[in-house]
Amino acid sequence: MPKVGEELRAAAHRLAQAGCHAPRREAAGLWARLSGGTVGEVWLEQDREAPEGRRTRYWDAVERRARGEPAAYAAGRAGFRWLELTIDPRVLIPRPETEGLVERVLGHGGSGSALDVGTGSGCIALSLATEGGFSRVVATDASNAALDVARANAARLAPRVAVEFRHGDLLEPVSGETFDAIVSNPPYVAAEEFEALDDGVRLYEPREALVSPEGGLQHSRRLLEGAAPLLAPGGLLALEVDSTRAEATLRLAREAGWRGARLESDLFGRLRYLLATKE
Ligand SMILES: C[S@@+](CC[C@H](N)C(=O)[O-])C[C@H]1O[C@@H](n2cnc3c(N)ncnc32)[C@H](O)[C@@H]1O
Repeated sequence: MPKVGEELRAAAHRLAQAGCHAPRREAAGLWARLSGGTVGEVWLEQDREAPEGRRTRYWDAVERRARGEPAAYAAGRAGFRWLELTIDPRVLIPRPETEGLVERVLGHGGSGSALDVGTGSGCIALSLATEGGFSRVVATDASNAALDVARANAARLAPRVAVEFRHGDLLEPVSGETFDAIVSNPPYVAAEEFEALDDGVRLYEPREALVSPEGGLQHSRRLLEGAAPLLAPGGLLALEVDSTRAEATLRLAREAGWRGARLESDLFGRLRYLLATKE
């Protein structure tokens, strides 16, 4: 049976031929995604035999990556905070900055009930359910296909978490209910910006997960206008925003009556989070 190291070298060669910029790192990264470990652990495993089933899945992922598919879709896996999520092009690949959004919500208290609007893979809702002290988490999405992925990710968690998934437009599926936290990473890319995105995003990720009308602001505006009646007093509204439109989103928040709304930066110093508390 071939060794892990031989597979990695052959895969790096294939990825280099396909024009990948960091073929050795990509080869190890794909193996790590499939084995559920880290790239460091993969380097330590090089002298181990590579199991047949893993090799088959690995070469399928390598070929897909060589054709330009993002690594997370090629391997079908993405890590988010403590979670290992199964993903495919029905959902956005969870981004590291969204982990910071979850951090803000957990930091606010992380208890009572929480709503995640536009759940995609379920990354935010499932993180809140597993890491927070929430007694109730509801997740919505306008895409039934995305909800299928999120439900499957929830079903794989052990111990089980009770997250309710609902289909519909933004806050409509929870009309009349109240939450202690409402969180969303809504679509916030302007249509013309979408056309200029990297092929890996533009050709594989769901357009409806990224693009928002009104220059990227429509979903955020509607959430800011509709969230207050659904929040308990003292409850937190936490939105991920495009750093280039953070100030514009803050203005929309003030217009919608969120007097104490503020922006916070991600680890790279980019304004990424809009936080507002119900008075
Ligand atoms: C930027 S993605 C975020 C996905 C996931 N929460 C994450 O952070 O990776 C936006 C999500 O909102 C959903 N969405 C788009 N328009 C929506 C709408 N009008 N109502 C509810 N969900 C919507 C998309 O299907 C997509 O799953």
